[in-house]
Amino acid sequence: MISQGLKGVVAAQTSISHIDGEEGQLIYRGVEIRRLTKKYSFEEIAFLLWHGTLPSKVELENLKKELKKKRVLSSAVKSIIDQLPRNMDLMSVIRTIISAEGTTDYKWKPTISQAIKLTAMVPTIIAYWQNKLEDKTCHEPQYEMDHVENYLYMLTGSTPSKAHVDALETYMILTLEHGMNASTFSARVTASTESDMVSAITSAIGTMKGPLHGGAPSGVIELLNEIGEADNAEKVIRRKVENGEKLMGFGHRVYKTHDPRAVALRKKLLSLGGEDSWLDLAIHVENTAIEVLNELKPGRSLYTNVEFYAAAIMKSINMAKELFTPTFTASRVVGWTAHVLEQAEHNTIYRPQSEYVGEFKNPTAFE
Ligand code: ACO
Repeated sequence: MISQGLKGVVAAQTSISHIDGEEGQLIYRGVEIRRLTKKYSFEEIAFLLWHGTLPSKVELENLKKELKKKRVLSSAVKSIIDQLPRNMDLMSVIRTIISAEGTTDYKWKPTISQAIKLTAMVPTIIAYWQNKLEDKTCHEPQYEMDHVENYLYMLTGSTPSKAHVDALETYMILTLEHGMNASTFSARVTASTESDMVSAITSAIGTMKGPLHGGAPSGVIELLNEIGEADNAEKVIRRKVENGEKLMGFGHRVYKTHDPRAVALRKKLLSLGGEDSWLDLAIHVENTAIEVLNELKPGRSLYTNVEFYAAAIMKSINMAKELFTPTFTASRVVGWTAHVLEQAEHNTIYRPQSEYVGEFKNPTAFE
């Protein structure tokens, strides 16, 4: 008896996060996620995921200092980026540069210091590449800015508004970690061979890139652009589902009710206020799609997932479509590294079996 896509298979024990797919709850280290987005920073929740407890004041200051120090790219790293072809997609750029980072200093066993380094590097790689593509001078990290504010600064070269930092920080906290998703599983499989932190994170980035995982939000923008206005929603959605297409930003392997991250992001978007016809359209599409999916795919419990409102958050802060999945990577690297550390603590190599469905040829034909 096989489980396609390992559906329902429990592959590891973890104390990093818990998803209750029936109740629509996500818990980081014992705390419900919506409590964590209200008053904590990216750095505090990253510390929580790596260490299991929130940081003291001193620990938080030390983490911030370390992230700031490690987010500056060396001239060697910049020169590798400069040699990459301009038409390379950004996820491949991140994967290549993180992989190149692993030539030294990343021996087994993985460490929190390595996790901090990779977390610090990803936003700078993204911004350096984006500045280069836009033929802008590279906006170097600003020491006085924290992680999320500095990321937005490096992309544009100007100090971002508090509202934009707040919206992106909420998104990043909500997407730092999510149990045994495909990319985290990749990271853990690689770590389980006693490879190294960089190899594990390189595997995860490659897995994150696919449209069925981290690549969905740009598909959401395309869906909403295709729909264009509320009156078209039902017709377009119906046609797509009847043709067997997947609606990007809907459905989830674990959540069989509303994804709490999508709920929290929608709330954040509404709290930003102001005229936003695109958000109105998104909410209309969400409601219409849930009705149509319920009718055409009864019993499948299909709702919006985090990617649906991630697209709206990114749009609200003027983030280019090409940066959606890379930005997701900039937050999820925290969860991946936490899992690699946990895997290293209680390691058993992953080695499932496969069921052979090929033929058994007559051996005499090969004599
Ligand atoms: N649109 C239309 N129908 C869907 C959708 C969707 N988005 N998602 C699932 N279904 C249908 C399937 O066609 C299938 O119908 P069937 O029983 O008639 O064959 C049924 O629901 C079950 O779907 P599966 O694909 O078997 O569900 P699975 O758990 O394997 O896949 C996944 C989950 C990959 C997220 C899927 O829902 C999907 O492809 N969604 C669109 C892409 C997306 O938004 N990805 C982001 C996920 S969140 C994240 O990775 C951070």
